[in-house]
Amino acid sequence: MGTPKLETALKNASELIDQRLRDILSVPDAPEGRVVEAMKYTLMGGGKRLRGFLCIETAKLFDVEETHYARVATSIECAHSYSLVHDDLPAMDDDDMRRGRPSLHKAFDEATAILAGDALVTLAFEILADEQTHPRKAVRLDLISSFSKALGTRGMVGGQMFDLMSPELELDAGALTRLQKMKTGALIEFSVEAGCILGQVPDNTRIALNAYAHDIGLAFQIADDLLDVEACQDDIGKTPGKDEASGKVTFVSLLGLDRAKDQARILVDQAVGHLENFGSEADALREAAHYVIIRGH
Ligand code: IPE
Ligand code: IPE
Ligand code: MG
Ligand code: MG
Ligand code: MG
Repeated sequence: MGTPKLETALKNASELIDQRLRDILSVPDAPEGRVVEAMKYTLMGGGKRLRGFLCIETAKLFDVEETHYARVATSIECAHSYSLVHDDLPAMDDDDMRRGRPSLHKAFDEATAILAGDALVTLAFEILADEQTHPRKAVRLDLISSFSKALGTRGMVGGQMFDLMSPELELDAGALTRLQKMKTGALIEFSVEAGCILGQVPDNTRIALNAYAHDIGLAFQIADDLLDVEACQDDIGKTPGKDEASGKVTFVSLLGLDRAKDQARILVDQAVGHLENFGSEADALREAAHYVIIRGH
């Protein structure tokens, strides 16, 4: 539902990532092949590849080589898929549908889904550590260090814990912002940061791009919470109404639909404002900011 230009850029990002995944994921003819089949099921399951796209488009601003940014984008999408596989497990959101198909634990079984998630996140780091990702060790280390922070207890995992506890907590807007920044914002911020690390970009430029990513990360999760309330299963490819049913605190439950939408729009305008020092080369990132809140899934 983006502009034709954005659709093409997202499709190109997906193709680049899918090609890398096809090269990496060969299923061994052995009992453990089952976990690789499960990884393939989830990775080739039609995600938007937004995080990979953000890494690619940021890296392109700084003339990074395609092999380098394609590998980092692939790594990010592996870790993102892991987060979704575990998020859907019965012990977490207990969601039977993902990307329009049965969730991984439904298509396979819970133990395989746990292991596939584990293997996806370790694969993500294996890709980053390989010298094909960047010839300079310092760059690879910087990527690995930032990625671990984004995924760990100060980032995605911490946010998921906070989210699971939210029904028992009385969160105000400030606390909920912190939750969403950790749960979803951290990986989106890393996606842009990774492009900056590959481009070995000066601090002042990194700060502007980080502010952009911060704002779209928050807007992205508000849009996800709105879709949970307003969209149907065929559109989002996952079960709607889950947040309310499980008593999760979201911007929609806290502010109501209209104010949540206003908040998302403010964040998008703010995000685009942070790109003011870039020319037309940043148009894909500008369009992506608008897309995160108008997307239909
Ligand atoms: C879903 O992310 C999980 C959230 C952080 C809200 P996406 O909506 O980007 O999922 P895919 O990868 O496109 O399926
Ligand atoms: C999940 O948020 C964010 C992750 C870190 C995986 P949600 O639980 O709202 O994501 P969906 O709606 O199931 O995709
Ligand atoms: Mg969740
Ligand atoms: Mg969920
Ligand atoms: Mg959701």
